[in-house]
Amino acid sequence: MTIDSSPALQQVRQWLQDAAHIAMLTGAGVSAESGVPTFRDAQTGLWAHFRPEDLATVDAFRRDPARVWDWYAERRVNMREVQPNAGHRAVADFQRRHPGRLTLATQNVDGLHQKAGSADVLALHGNIFEDQWLDPCALARRPQEGCSPAQAEPGRPPRCVQCGNLARPAVVWFGEMLPHDALGAAERAAARCNVMLVVGTSGAVYPAAGLAHVARAAGARVVIVNPHPSELDDWAHAVLPGTSAQLLPVLLDF
Ligand code: OAD
Repeated sequence: MTIDSSPALQQVRQWLQDAAHIAMLTGAGVSAESGVPTFRDAQTGLWAHFRPEDLATVDAFRRDPARVWDWYAERRVNMREVQPNAGHRAVADFQRRHPGRLTLATQNVDGLHQKAGSADVLALHGNIFEDQWLDPCALARRPQEGCSPAQAEPGRPPRCVQCGNLARPAVVWFGEMLPHDALGAAERAAARCNVMLVVGTSGAVYPAAGLAHVARAAGARVVIVNPHPSELDDWAHAVLPGTSAQLLPVLLDF
C-alpha cells in the first residue's frame, strides 16, 4: 500500500472535503524540496551549522551587524534562485478553485507561497527580501518622520545618512514580537477552522506552533504532514508521514 491509498490519508481527504474552512500553518519543510535549507533537520538544517543566538537576535545584529547582514545576504541569494514546488502550487491552486476557504499562515520568509500564486499569505516571521530600520530615527521630531535614504557599502547594512541608524532584514528574530495583524488573523482562522493542516514545521517555535493548540481547543481536526516526527504530533488527530510536495497535491486535489 502506498501513502496515497493509506486509510489515514483517505480519512484526511474526507475531512478536508467536508471542511467549510481550512487553516494551514507551514514551516521550512515546505520549501525543502525547492532547495531552501530547513533549520532543525539533523544534518542539513541551518541550526546544525550556525548558532541562532549569533545570527537571529537583535543583540547579535547590534554586536556584529556586518556578519548578520552577510548571512542574510547569502540566504537572499539562495532564495531568489529557488522556485515553488508541487506543494506550494497545490495550495495556491486550491485557493484559486475555492476562494476564501483556506487561510494560509507561514513561518517562512522565502516568499515561495506568494511566488506560487497564494494570495493573502500571513507571513508570521516577515519577509527576507525587505529591510526595516533597526531603531526609530534619532533625529525625528515627529513620529511619522523616518530615516533618510540609506548609503550602502558592500557587505555592510545600509545606514541612514542623517542619524547613522542601520537597516536590517525585515524578519522576526528570536525574542521579537510577531506582526500583530498577521498573528491575529492566523489565530482567528485557527479558532474557526474545521481542519488545521500543519505542514513542514518542527512545531518548536511559539507563538506560531500555538496555532495548532488554538485549533484543537476550538474543536478542529489537526493534521500533520511531515516526513519526520514533530513536536505537535501528540496534539494531532492524524499524522501523515511524507513530504509536502508529495502529499499536498493529493490532499488538495478537489
Ligand atoms: P524546522 O527546521 O524547525 O523544521 C522543519 C520541519 O520540516 C522538520 O520537522 C522536518 O522534518 C520537516 N521537513 C523536512 N523536509 C520536509 C519536506 N520535504 N516536506 C515536509 N516537511 C519536511 O523549521 P520551522 O518549523 O519552519 O524562525 O522553524 C520555525 C522557525 O524556527 C523558523 O521560522 C525560524 C527558525 O528559527 C526564525 O528565524 C525566527
